[in-house]
Amino acid sequence: LAPKRLSGRKVLITAGPTFEPIDPVRGITNLSSGKMGYAIARAAREAGAEVTLISGPTGLAAPHGVNRIKVVTAQQMHDAVMARVAGHQVFIGVAAVADWRVAEVSAQKIKKKDGHDVPQLKFEQNPDILAAVAALPSPPYCVGFAAESEELLRHGEEKRRRKRTPLLVGNIGPQTFGLDDNELILFDEQGQTHFPRADKQSLARSLIDEIARRLGG
Ligand code: C5P
Repeated sequence: LAPKRLSGRKVLITAGPTFEPIDPVRGITNLSSGKMGYAIARAAREAGAEVTLISGPTGLAAPHGVNRIKVVTAQQMHDAVMARVAGHQVFIGVAAVADWRVAEVSAQKIKKKDGHDVPQLKFEQNPDILAAVAALPSPPYCVGFAAESEELLRHGEEKRRRKRTPLLVGNIGPQTFGLDDNELILFDEQGQTHFPRADKQSLARSLIDEIARRLGG
């Protein structure tokens, strides 16, 4: 029988994209599929944790035994996380949260008017959910993700410190959005750990093992 390394632990995870409305039928989103976050939620559950998954819009089914809460916008994701985070030992921010939202959402569909100027959108900043959780007086063990970039290897450790998370997980390019596999590099105060390209579920299990080990599980 596989050891249940996270028994008795509560794990909160964000996953998927967020969707920021422009008007009742339009909005701005990104290509996150939610697969990595859902795989991590499944792996945490397999490891015996009580798992809450705060998910932006995805086509994925909730993993068995996981408490999934669906949200749409970054603000809703932030509010859902902050309302529930107390009592959790681990927070894993996997969601691709929109950095900006449309400042004035139109209550009606914006009409196309021939010969008129195209609409100009104004944006405002969304809250940084991971930063908000990491700044709590007694935060859970926080894990951040970083999208791939050529500079990742050089700047991963710097980003981990800036994000104030004990563990930062970098997605190594090329683009991982929507794919079933991924390649990860973990940055913590000990240094770097490389997880070679594999399917997201296997990587999720390895990541959960690493987190459990750091928690002393
Ligand atoms: O700074 P950057 O956006 O690259 O950081 C990515 C990490 O921060 C991810 O873990 C993501 O889930 C989290 N994040 C967040 N809220 C935001 C932006 C990013 O929780 N508004």
